[in-house]
Amino acid sequence: MKKILPVEELARDSRFVRARIEDAISDPRQAKVSERNTGSARLEPARPAAADRARQLMHGIFVGEIQALEGAGRTTFDFDDDEIPFQLKLDMARQCWDESRHCEISVKLSEHMGSEIGEFTEATFLYEAACAPDALLRLTGVNRALEGLAIDVFNTMKEFGDVSGDPVLAACEDWMLADEVTHVKMGSDWLRRLTENDPERRERALEFQRTVDKLFSLGGFRGETDENPIQLARKFREMAGFSTEEIDDLSEVATEAQEEARAAADALHGVASGD
Ligand SMILES: [Fe+2]
Ligand SMILES: [Fe+2]
Repeated sequence: MKKILPVEELARDSRFVRARIEDAISDPRQAKVSERNTGSARLEPARPAAADRARQLMHGIFVGEIQALEGAGRTTFDFDDDEIPFQLKLDMARQCWDESRHCEISVKLSEHMGSEIGEFTEATFLYEAACAPDALLRLTGVNRALEGLAIDVFNTMKEFGDVSGDPVLAACEDWMLADEVTHVKMGSDWLRRLTENDPERRERALEFQRTVDKLFSLGGFRGETDENPIQLARKFREMAGFSTEEIDDLSEVATEAQEEARAAADALHGVASGD
């Protein structure tokens, strides 16, 4: 079996529609649901686009679960025993077990919400981050950055389930949220253990994490204001081994990304209106 399986060789049936992340951002199906109004961008049942946006998020979660399963599975296989501790492989195997359950929950939840596989495109960024040749980058880029984002998304969706009166949605998100806290904590713990005597390696791994985090704060997707559809889940991130300083940094990155997006929108408006 091949080590580091390229993203093109992932097994998908004809229902799946592949997108590059750049395409996903400009996909008109995504634009339909990420259309920005003035005021709150939070997921609120009274907002007309809320159901569409929740379905889109759910589809993104579903494909993310498949790739998290594939990524953790690869990490159990891609490295020899002298490259990473066996205990780390066992943690990744345990994660595969959780992610398989999440795949099943997500596909059923998508149906429950009136969606189906392929309604939205599949961006493969998570799996690509899970192909990093250094296992430590997988732990920061996938477990800490992307599954950290999953904590924020699941917490936001759980709250949406609560306020929209959907106990099935709220319960499913709550269960998956609990597992993701464990996965992110695995990332935090292994980062600390593997770099105990190598601060430079730790810094490189954290830099990769910051790059991934910044990408997913684009346009104010995740943050702590009413303009962010996905809210930063401070309490759960603390449980997953994030320091207060790290959470503050994430909040800052989100604010910067939001300001950049606003400046770009104003500039575009200026060009369009001939100012
Ligand atoms: Fe998951
Ligand atoms: Fe996970």
